[in-house]
Amino acid sequence: MSRAAAPVAEAVDAIDDHGKKVQAMFSDISRGYDLANRLMSLGTDIRWRRRAVATLLPAGPSGAADGGRPQILDLCAGTLDSTRTIHRAFPAADLIGGDFSAGMLAVGASHLSSAERDRITPKHMDAHDLPVDDTNLDAIFCAFGVRNLSDVPRATREALRVLKPGGQLTVLEFFRPRALVTRLFHALYNRTVLPVVGWMCTGNLDAYVYLPRSIAAFRDVEDYCDILARAGFVEVRVEPLTFGVASIVRARRPSAPSTPVTTEAP
Ligand SMILES: C[S@@+](CC[C@H](N)C(=O)[O-])C[C@H]1O[C@@H](n2cnc3c(N)ncnc32)[C@H](O)[C@@H]1O
Repeated sequence: MSRAAAPVAEAVDAIDDHGKKVQAMFSDISRGYDLANRLMSLGTDIRWRRRAVATLLPAGPSGAADGGRPQILDLCAGTLDSTRTIHRAFPAADLIGGDFSAGMLAVGASHLSSAERDRITPKHMDAHDLPVDDTNLDAIFCAFGVRNLSDVPRATREALRVLKPGGQLTVLEFFRPRALVTRLFHALYNRTVLPVVGWMCTGNLDAYVYLPRSIAAFRDVEDYCDILARAGFVEVRVEPLTFGVASIVRARRPSAPSTPVTTEAP
């Protein structure tokens, strides 16, 4: 069953047909998306997000590489759920909630309190072509976005480009599971609870058939770590969550090479 909703006018062009389909799909389910998430995960996603967000920035007085106000991008931010979690954890940081779905961002913007609006800027963007200058950000966070991308290596290079030296990329994602028990759990859950609850909350069954398929078709976490390393990220670390149902991957842009010490002639 499909809902007859007026299509949302998108503000940025996706890079290819896959991107266009994903963009239209998320705009279509945007109104019921948060409720579906909460019911499907029974609140587990809240716990995962908090854990992933807690270490976005290094501990310290400001957390920004230059001692100023930290600049953080929540990429594929959707309805700004994680962006608001980041704001609660780092209230002094300037946050951009970036997504290419106008529908998702509009729902997210409507939830922001005035204090959140002071620090959070929703911005239309495609992850493959970020409208951000080089070496501008202290941290990038991305929850459940990477597996929807058309070209993961290209988007990974973009993330590296816009991070400051030493800045961290943190990804929370359902990677393709390897362990048999986790594979069985994913298969059962994704064919029962997920489509039924998703359809009830959004009226769009196709989207909740696509989402589990996108997990099965996606890479496992080791493949993703290889992509990060090949793009130039260092200190790539994986933290499995809830028996490997989801994972947090953290990686860092290398710090700038130290300037050679020159000795002045006496
Ligand atoms: C499963 S939702 C996750 C939303 C949010 N991060 C969360 O945890 O609830 C995936 C989001 O990624 C966005 N997205 C997918 N591909 C994208 C791309 N190429 N550029 C920007 N956003 C993208 C979608 O529009 C959608 O809002």
